[in-house]
Amino acid sequence: MALREIRLMGDDILTKPCKEVTKMTIRNRILINDMLDTMYEAQGVGLAAPQVGILKRIVVIDVGDGPVVMVNPEILESSGEQTGNEGCLSLPGKAGTVTRPMYVKVKAFDQNMNPVILEGEDLLARAMCHEIDHLEGHMYVELAEGPLFDAENEEEE
Ligand code: NI
Repeated sequence: MALREIRLMGDDILTKPCKEVTKMTIRNRILINDMLDTMYEAQGVGLAAPQVGILKRIVVIDVGDGPVVMVNPEILESSGEQTGNEGCLSLPGKAGTVTRPMYVKVKAFDQNMNPVILEGEDLLARAMCHEIDHLEGHMYVELAEGPLFDAENEEEE
């Protein structure tokens, strides 16, 4: 188990677009495992590679149903709407109100670079959108309606 340092908002790396992953190298496998360890240790529900300082299109999510790894994820479809509180491991202790789709369909590769189609609803859809935004250098605070507030039990991604 290896933990990586979570970069905090204000770190320039969180504003940069990430590069596509072309090959599942040992280095990428270690990164994915470390991202999962880091996310679980921080009790988050999602983590994107730039949050640990790596500009690669890799995301890990676990909303309570087991780990989901997405490499080069792309949203194919989205529908519906949900407005709720959202937090981020790169801005600990804070949350904001963000409207996201209720459903998304995502095309990605898994940790073995097999193509997969993933569907997410509710919190999973929110987490998928939040993490994919990180890969473009965007954070939820750009979408938050009204001021941020102190998080109590909000999930952090
Ligand atoms: Ni985040």
